[in-house]
Amino acid sequence: MPRVPAHIATTRHLSVAYPLATEAGLGHQGVLIGQDVLGGSFVYDPFVLYRQGVITNPNMVVFGQIGRGKSSFVKSYLWRQAVFGRRAWVVDPKGEYGPLARAWGVAPVALRPGGSVRLNPLDTGELNDGAGPGNDRQPDGAGGGAGGDEAWRRRVELTASLAVACLGRHLVPRERAAIDAALTEATERSRTAQMPAPTLPDVVESLLDPSAHAARQLRTDQPTLMEDGRDVALELRRLVYGDLRGMFDGPTTPGLRLDAPLVVLDLSAVYNSPALGVLMACATAWLQNAVQAEHRHRVIVVVDEAWAILSNLGVARWLQASWKLSRALGIANMAVLHRMSDLRAVGAGDSEQVALAEGLLADSETRVIYAQSPGEVERTGELLGLTATEAALVTQLRRGMALWKVGRRSFLVEHRLASSERVLIDTDTAMIGEPDPPLEGPAREPDGG
Ligand SMILES: Nc1ncnc2c1ncn2[C@@H]1O[C@H](COP(=O)(O)OP(=O)(O)OP(=O)(O)O)[C@@H](O)[C@H]1O
Ligand SMILES: [Mg+2]
Repeated sequence: MPRVPAHIATTRHLSVAYPLATEAGLGHQGVLIGQDVLGGSFVYDPFVLYRQGVITNPNMVVFGQIGRGKSSFVKSYLWRQAVFGRRAWVVDPKGEYGPLARAWGVAPVALRPGGSVRLNPLDTGELNDGAGPGNDRQPDGAGGGAGGDEAWRRRVELTASLAVACLGRHLVPRERAAIDAALTEATERSRTAQMPAPTLPDVVESLLDPSAHAARQLRTDQPTLMEDGRDVALELRRLVYGDLRGMFDGPTTPGLRLDAPLVVLDLSAVYNSPALGVLMACATAWLQNAVQAEHRHRVIVVVDEAWAILSNLGVARWLQASWKLSRALGIANMAVLHRMSDLRAVGAGDSEQVALAEGLLADSETRVIYAQSPGEVERTGELLGLTATEAALVTQLRRGMALWKVGRRSFLVEHRLASSERVLIDTDTAMIGEPDPPLEGPAREPDGG
């Protein structure tokens, strides 16, 4: 049978002949994600798209059933973004970002009660190699300048949020004043001892035993000031002597870098413990420091398995702060969830957690949807903004395929992995055996695209 010659036309003519059939794509600036199934490669960068006005916020939520490739996408995406000098902060509840961290040349920050790694939450300045802020406010209010005031303000805020995380309630004004007085004394003592920053044991000590001078400053007496700070002291004491000791109760372990290009907070040992809220309260301050200190680099903040930790109020507030601050600080946030209903399952219907979790979705203009069950799509398709065709499609997606909703536009994308990236993403080891040996440096270009 004679073959019909292929018809050849320019893309301009084709788009007129087949209007509304395909998307033009998001341009070529950014990292390659994979293949747009309607043709061509799919490239994405939230900072570029924000600059171009395609999206009005750089945040992303990734949904999908278990084992569909959500974490693999995130890991390879960060690895590819590294080529462009992007930095990343990863909150890792399962402890699965170790290979990515090692490939990037850093160690995950794996805190566990009684473990070998300590982070001094009051080290709110440069937290590298045990160095601390150099220009604290003088306890009597003299000297220090703007930078010192800023370091002081962060330290007070951090201690207050630690107390809130430990107490599980807001602070009253007396407690805030007691914290301020105790920090002033502890800072004075650490300065005299030539330490970079006070530690929590110093602050607990000052809360339990305030000086006459501190009481006079607040126009009160020592017993009253002691009583005002007592609940806070007893809760913070748990971090020093109680069940949570050994993580936050001394100077930062030398060599631990919270200003590294990639910071992985491995929560696998703490995510069922009260230490989680404490750690996330610290993470807020550290992240803000890191971002403010490094304006040149855009930062991608990832919370994998967000559903597992969102029920913790401290975590939910941390996430909300990071989402709200994204545009101001140049952060693109990413949260990974199994399904939309996870957002509602993090607390009671009228709880603050649920409101905060749902706010994340409203403030995320990029939604990456891996396979979902038909029941879930029926319940939540409308909230995700899925058309009837898209809703039918997401129930049938195979591993690695996702529907990308970027602003008002939709793309069906097959995420492609380079062979060299497989070692970064493997989560099947427990099921099928050991992964390959580690990589040498960031991949320049993934295969297949
Ligand atoms: N794009 C892909 N191409 C081929 N294989 C993939 C792809 N993405 C993931 N995989 C394989 O699927 C496995 C599971 O992927 P991954 O851990 O990313 O799933 P997940 O959706 O994060 O699962 P969970 O919900 O359990 O965290 C990986 O170990 C990898 O081998
Ligand atoms: Mg995962």
